[in-house]
Amino acid sequence: EASLATRARRKGLSFGTSVSTAELRLPALRAAVAREADLIVAQNELKWWNTEARRGQPTYGAADAIMNAPEFEALTRRGHTAVWYRSIPDWAKAEFSAGRGEAATLKRVRDIVAHYRGRIVEWDVVNEAVWPADGRPDGLRDTPLAAAGGLDLMADCFRAAHEADPDARLYYNDYAVEYASPGEDEHRAAILTFLEAMKRRNVPIHGFGVQGHLTVGNRFRERVFARFLADLAALDLKIRITEMDVSDQRLPADFALRDGKVADHARQFLDVAFDQPAVVGLVTWGLADPSPWLDAERARPDRLPQRALPLDRDFARKPLWTAIARSL
Ligand code: XIL
Repeated sequence: EASLATRARRKGLSFGTSVSTAELRLPALRAAVAREADLIVAQNELKWWNTEARRGQPTYGAADAIMNAPEFEALTRRGHTAVWYRSIPDWAKAEFSAGRGEAATLKRVRDIVAHYRGRIVEWDVVNEAVWPADGRPDGLRDTPLAAAGGLDLMADCFRAAHEADPDARLYYNDYAVEYASPGEDEHRAAILTFLEAMKRRNVPIHGFGVQGHLTVGNRFRERVFARFLADLAALDLKIRITEMDVSDQRLPADFALRDGKVADHARQFLDVAFDQPAVVGLVTWGLADPSPWLDAERARPDRLPQRALPLDRDFARKPLWTAIARSL
């Protein structure tokens, strides 16, 4: 059966996946990625704490190993993420405390985007910066980044990225936009306000990344989510699902039951997403089970590995694979 990338291409879309250093060591995983995907993103290796753990001493080795793996040569490369409050190295936190956070952040953006100029064609420039529940009048998450420069700094990050690689497509990436969960209406609204503000300032920004970390049992708001995507499109933004996985945290242990519900849940989400013409593709946060980050940060009470990804641990296609294939 045709791969997800082949099916996506037929619709003018793309299918990609994240790859981590640990996964890169598995030849069968590399082969499965090359077979199913047309795009890769490094899961952690481009984050600031990994590329510059010590000030002025860039370490691109782990990211380069993924970017330059021979199996992936023909694939498109996305960059994640230039600026994220959770990936600020300790030395840079000290810069923020000393009032030099803005300069350090903009240098970081220029350095990482310039290093991969022409090779990484799409960047998450800013990740998870909007969180109105924190109570700031500008809707930004209350972080050292917001404190240092607020919306001006966010705008300057996109400008710096654009100067460092004028051909790169630049994204703002965020989560918690698909459900009826408490606070998500306010979050969707604040994201749109943020993006409108960037557009009004003529900031070079081309897309919005919907992370898509799903959890079976959460309630979708299909019409509200569709409307949110339409509002993004009306701002002349492309949309990519950038980190989809499906947590089965709250389901009983039975494999077949979990696999079926994971697939159904993803299908509900993807049907809305792919109905929106501004959506350019889907990236999953890993291709094959297990998902170390879900099993760490959203562990099941019984500690069993989750069934969150399209392939099983032997790289066989699961019902989630079929759900994605049919949604394309
Ligand atoms: C996660 C990685 O998967 C973990 O390995 C790491 O420990 C923390 O970050 N949203 C994002 C991603 O934008 O960068 C996060 O990735 C998952 C949530």
